Amino acid sequence: MTAASVPPLPADLDTGLRRLKLGSMRRLAPELLVTAKTQRWNPEEFLRTLLEAEITSRDESNTRTRMKAAAFPVIKTIEEFDVTASSIPAATFDYLASLEWIRAAENYCAVGPAGTGKSHSLIAFGVAAVHAGHKVRYFSAADLVETLYRGLADNSVGRVIENLLRADLVVIDEVGFAPLDDTGAQLLFRFVAAAYERRALGIGSHWPFDQWGRFLPEHTTAVSLLDRLLHHSIVVVTEGESFRMRQARIRGGGRPTND
Ligand SMILES: Nc1ncnc2c1ncn2[C@@H]1O[C@H](COP(=O)(O)OP(=O)(O)O)[C@@H](O)[C@H]1O
Ligand SMILES: [Mg+2]
Repeated sequence: MTAASVPPLPADLDTGLRRLKLGSMRRLAPELLVTAKTQRWNPEEFLRTLLEAEITSRDESNTRTRMKAAAFPVIKTIEEFDVTASSIPAATFDYLASLEWIRAAENYCAVGPAGTGKSHSLIAFGVAAVHAGHKVRYFSAADLVETLYRGLADNSVGRVIENLLRADLVVIDEVGFAPLDDTGAQLLFRFVAAAYERRALGIGSHWPFDQWGRFLPEHTTAVSLLDRLLHHSIVVVTEGESFRMRQARIRGGGRPTND
């Protein structure tokens, strides 16, 4: 059927659907009316088709909004992650990919050297969570602390934290890249304590936990922060050779070298 032979929707219906912001229904309705008439659809089927189109487009639009709000620095997916090439045990990876830990407000902590898939896995689970309908927010530790610092100026740290904890999963990557001063460490502690048993955290750090004293100035802060972080936590030590290095070598592999 050509578009020209599809009669437009009666004006009152068009206006009503527009007013109720049922855009997909409105776009689909004229052609669907013709199809339903010529194919003698059951009226229920007609309504169902319209409704499903609207629901699908709303879901997609909500996912796009949540994806933007998550502020991932890049998009990485579970499918792109080669589990066999990583040191994450397959069973652990499957549990993490099930997103059950997010519903249970557990934490995922990835600790290991550069290029071993910490950020990739954190982002991939975050992206999957967004697709599953969760709210997610990605931060580097430095950005999170900076965000909390801003709240200090006008006494709104508590409110800022509560706002951030509207997310079901907050990723704090690159913990320990930059050292924190006393206030920064306190702020990070406040955030982790507020999330404890309420929201899932995803943590990435190249420092093993016993080294966290290096960037958390007060010993007590490191101990009490780790206590809360690790209580309900899936800890993965990512090891091995840097994926980046490996890929660089594969790319350069065919070329003659001087050595
Ligand atoms: N197991 C893996 N499968 C596929 N790509 C990987 C894997 N591990 C790392 N990578 C890729 O290698 C690069 C570095 O990984 P990344 O997760 O950023 O490392 P880091 O541990 O430093 O956060 C990224 O491009 C990432 O997609
Ligand atoms: Mg990283």
